[in-house]
Amino acid sequence: MIFTKIAGTGSYVPNKVLTNDDLKQFVETSDEWIDSRTGIKERHMVVNETTLDLAYNASLSAIESAGIEKNSIDLIIVATVTSDYAFPGVAQLLQAKLGIEGITAFDINAACSGFVYALQLADKMLKSGAFQNALIVGAETLTRLTDWRDRNTCVLFGDGAGAMVISKSDENQIMDVITGAQGDVDMLLYCKNPDLKDPEINAISPQDHIHMKGPEVFKFATRIMPKTVSDLLQRNNISADDLDHVVAHQANMRIIDKSARDLNISMDKMFTNIDKYGNTSAASVPIAIDEAVRTNFLKRGDLFITVAFGGGLTWGGALIRY
Ligand code: ACO
Repeated sequence: MIFTKIAGTGSYVPNKVLTNDDLKQFVETSDEWIDSRTGIKERHMVVNETTLDLAYNASLSAIESAGIEKNSIDLIIVATVTSDYAFPGVAQLLQAKLGIEGITAFDINAACSGFVYALQLADKMLKSGAFQNALIVGAETLTRLTDWRDRNTCVLFGDGAGAMVISKSDENQIMDVITGAQGDVDMLLYCKNPDLKDPEINAISPQDHIHMKGPEVFKFATRIMPKTVSDLLQRNNISADDLDHVVAHQANMRIIDKSARDLNISMDKMFTNIDKYGNTSAASVPIAIDEAVRTNFLKRGDLFITVAFGGGLTWGGALIRY
C-alpha cells in the first residue's frame, strides 16, 4: 500500500499592498464596512509580475522546505483561473522556469477549490505508483479580473500563490480527499474569458470582470463548508473533537465563523489570515497552510482538515495528519 505526506510548503505574495482605505479612491466604501462584513483589512496586488512569477516563487520555497532536489519532482499541477496564457499552461512554464525537464505538468481550473482538486489528483497519482514527488500549486492574479468600479466585489480579492510538495510516505498522512461540483447554471459567480476573441466580429471582447451574487454565494458557502467537513469526519469515523485544526478557504471571516459554529469547533482551532490577503482564490488554501506551518500553528503530528468552496460551483476538503 502506498501512502502520501506533505513534504514541504511555500507561499509568495507580491509586494504591493492595497489597504481598505486605498480602495476609497475607486469606490464608495469604508474600512469599517469591509472589515466588519468580511474580516479583510488589506490585500496584495501584482504590478509587473504574472501568475507564473508568483507560482515560481512559492514553488522554490516549497521545494526548499521539502528538502528535496527539484529534479526528483516528476509531477506538477497548477490550480488557477488566471493563467498567463490560454496555453501554454502555468504548470508547463513553471516546469521550464524551475529547470525540470520532461515531466508531467498541467493546469486545472476549479476556482477557489482548485488547490484541493489538485491535491486529490496528485495524491491519487502518487498512490497509483506512477509518480514519486508532486509539486502542487495554487496561484492567482485575481486583481487582473477585478472590476474596480464594483464595490460588491473589488474589496474582496487579492493576488498570491501557495505551493506544496507531496511525496510517498511510510505512514498514511494524506488520509482522505473529497471534491464535488454543482454546475452554476444560475450564474452566481462567473467571469467570461477576457482574452478570447468574439467569433462574430473577430475582435478582442471588451474586458470582462468577476460577477457575483454575494448573498447567494454566502448561503452556498455556509452550507457546503460544514457539510464537507462533516462528510470527511463521518467517512473516517473521526469526531470534530479529534481535530487539532481546520484550515479553510479564506473568502470571508463570517463564513469561517458560521461554519465553525455549525460544526461546534472552537475558533481557536480555525486558522485565519484573510485580514492580510483577502480572497486569493486557488492560492488561499496553500498560502494558509504554509503560514499555519511557518507560525507553528500547525505542527508535525497534528490532525487537520483543509476545506474550500468556490466558483463552478465547486468544493473540496482533505483530512491530513501533518
Ligand atoms: N462598501 C460599502 N458598502 C457596500 C460594499 C462595500 N464594499 N459592498 C456592498 N455594499 C453595500 C451594498 O450595496 C448593500 O447596500 P444596499 O443595502 O443599500 O443595497 C449593503 O452594503 C449590503 O450588501 P450585501 O451584499 O447584502 O452585503 P453582505 O452582508 O451580503 O456582504 C459580501 C457582501 C461580503 C460579498 C457577502 O455576501 C459574501 O461574502 N458573500 C460570499 C462571497 C464569496 O465568498 N465569494 C467567493 C468567491 S470565490 C471564487 O471562486 C472567485
